[in-house]
Amino acid sequence: MIRIAAVGDIHFDRKSHNRLRQHFHGLAEKADLFLLAGDLTQTGHPEEVQILADDLIDCPIPVVAVLGNHDYHLDQVEQMHQILKKAGVMVLEKNTIIMNINEQRVGIAGIKGFGGGFVGACGSDFGEPEMKAFMRHSKNEAQELENMIKTMDCDYKIVLLHYSPTTQTLIGERKEIYPFLGSYYLSEAIDHGKVDIVFHGHAHSGIEKGVTPGGVPVRNVAQPVIRHAFNIYTLEKNDHRHLDFNDSTV
Ligand SMILES: [Fe+2]
Ligand SMILES: [Fe+2]
Repeated sequence: MIRIAAVGDIHFDRKSHNRLRQHFHGLAEKADLFLLAGDLTQTGHPEEVQILADDLIDCPIPVVAVLGNHDYHLDQVEQMHQILKKAGVMVLEKNTIIMNINEQRVGIAGIKGFGGGFVGACGSDFGEPEMKAFMRHSKNEAQELENMIKTMDCDYKIVLLHYSPTTQTLIGERKEIYPFLGSYYLSEAIDHGKVDIVFHGHAHSGIEKGVTPGGVPVRNVAQPVIRHAFNIYTLEKNDHRHLDFNDSTV
């Protein structure tokens, strides 16, 4: 059994001191791992990142994160990585990590993802260079994700994204902006691997629960959606390696 605390879109700014830390008391008894699904800061400014790092350094369980579009805003991603690394946060950027939790190998493939849209309402790799660049970035992120999932040899396969792989967790968002909220290429990558669960954020007005076309559970853990410091998800595989899981709120 593994217990995952997860949240996205915490959007730390210069006034966010202690916003997460105050919820860490007793966390080690409730969860094994803390996942952050991007938009960790408002603009990616080093001051915002440092305030977040000062909170996360006190987290009693391992912290694994991906970045979101807000974190890229000031083009200081490299510095952000360094500040978070110093605080012990594992930031995944097109890479995987395998952790040993309760004698189970837990693999996490982390990537930001991108927009692009969903079947029947998506962009295409055609026309102006700007449009081609947009859709190629979308496809490349999904291809990288698929490659990462394939390389993971573990008991639990978790995908951590910022953008959504499905429209199911976007319900409540305006349909006109779906192409900026996620991409179906991501769900294709997920469904080609044997993924157990996907976490994402970015869709502040969406809903928490969805599933990919291939049946993989998806959870939109954007903080405005879950309305708590984080949620805790318990994953347990039975003798037939079938996954049971429960969601709870902290
Ligand atoms: Fe956000
Ligand atoms: Fe976002």
